[in-house]
Amino acid sequence: MDDSAREFVGTFQKFMQDVINQAAVGQSTRTPLGEKLEAFLGTDAALLPIVTHEFGAHRLVDADLALAELASKGGEPPIGVSGGQQREHSSLSELLFSPFMKFDAGPVDYTSEPDGPDSSRRVISFGVHRLLIDDKPVVVLQRAAKPQVGREHASIEILCADAATSTRLLAEFSRLMLELSVLRGQVLSFTGDQYRNGSAGATFLARPTVTADSVILPPGVLETIVRHVVGIGEQKARLVEAGQHLKRGVLLHGPPGTGKTLTVRHLLARTPGTTAVLLTGTSIQFITQATELARAMQPSIVVLEDVDLVASERGMHGPQPLLFAVLDALDGLDGDANVTFILTTNRVQVLERALAERPGRVDLAVEIPLPDSDARRRLFHRYATGLPLSPDAVDTAADRAVDTTGSFAKELVRRAVLTAAEAERTVTDDDLAAALDELLASSAQLARNLLGGGSESPGGSAGAESSAHGSGGTWTAHVPGPGASFTSGSTIE
Ligand SMILES: Nc1ncnc2c1ncn2[C@@H]1O[C@H](COP(=O)(O)OP(=O)(O)O)[C@@H](O)[C@H]1O
Ligand SMILES: [Mg+2]
Repeated sequence: MDDSAREFVGTFQKFMQDVINQAAVGQSTRTPLGEKLEAFLGTDAALLPIVTHEFGAHRLVDADLALAELASKGGEPPIGVSGGQQREHSSLSELLFSPFMKFDAGPVDYTSEPDGPDSSRRVISFGVHRLLIDDKPVVVLQRAAKPQVGREHASIEILCADAATSTRLLAEFSRLMLELSVLRGQVLSFTGDQYRNGSAGATFLARPTVTADSVILPPGVLETIVRHVVGIGEQKARLVEAGQHLKRGVLLHGPPGTGKTLTVRHLLARTPGTTAVLLTGTSIQFITQATELARAMQPSIVVLEDVDLVASERGMHGPQPLLFAVLDALDGLDGDANVTFILTTNRVQVLERALAERPGRVDLAVEIPLPDSDARRRLFHRYATGLPLSPDAVDTAADRAVDTTGSFAKELVRRAVLTAAEAERTVTDDDLAAALDELLASSAQLARNLLGGGSESPGGSAGAESSAHGSGGTWTAHVPGPGASFTSGSTIE
């Protein structure tokens, strides 16, 4: 920009400011929309306070359902607002009173939002409701979140003649949002957009269908976990009567690829109707919102996958590490909340200090160990099911694959099948053996580590393959179990 252009811009800016200041003198200029809504309210809207209530973007469908329910009790149909982009930047009062903009009634804006794993609902993203609450007229502007213009949250803005009515409306609205919530009983993953600080969205996931017999663990391990997570929920009434708390915290730890996530998926399959919120990696920063949701939608499960990954990261709520925020969220819920927290980790030692400093949060810690030779055979047979492989070849492969995991078995079989498919034939015992040779070759060490096999951790040698990967240390004590070692809450003090 040259000097004369710069001077022009400066003059123009000053001119515009003068126009604005001049216009502001005659501020209470009603827009056509303002006139219409005032007619509905039957009073001078310039004097009325506006109550704004914000909520998470993912609750828009619930808000839409709640307002539709309130609207069904009387009032006028919803209207939209004309005036293009400018209305996005304007508050409700600016839509009603503006010296520059002629906001008027227009078509309602809708958006389609998921209300289940395979369905969606048309909801109002920008529209004005004209409701009757206890026969009193109330105007409510419903807005979706719009991060592009800096609106991180969805909101309603309430305008009515008396404060008591807007309080009543807000209470009814919140109650209906919960009662009608489409999130209840669903499996949700919480995702944050790293460019939008603090805003979280919920994605609906289909509930997993993993059966107990497809999770291959040492005897008794899965039953212990299921009993804690599902059993306590089923015996809720009796436990409460006997003064026992319902809230529970479960920690699943063990080498990668051993079936921790699979176990969680089985737990979700076993708890239809339970609201589940899954947080993985950076989305763990939304622990507060997830806990709020879990509290509101009981019975519920909050899954924190691979918590070690964020153990030392700072949360967005303050200087303390995210892991502490997570543990405090566990503690923040009342004991009688029917909420289960499930934490998984590959590196339990990273969490030990934090858990020791915040005792009582986790009342069941279970090691998901490397499979022993028997479990390995069962795993290999499971992943070879339906293939023309001889039982002997499968057993031999399992016996050779010392210190490998379930995910290794699965990948091994896939490779064998792929080799055969490329040669345009069905898979043979030789393909299985060749694929195993390849994966066990020293050059494939990295691949093996990635698949959770060939662990070099202490005790990972063949001689100690029966789950010597315990955490030990100060906060767990192994309760000897058949082929497994797990710990129970009383020892985590
Ligand atoms: N114990 C197991 N029983 C059956 N399949 C397993 C087992 N462990 C791993 N797998 C297979 O490997 C995949 C990856 O395992 P996963 O549960 O994600 O491991 P982790 O969460 O412990 O790292 C599973 O989806 C499953 O197909
Ligand atoms: Mg996992």
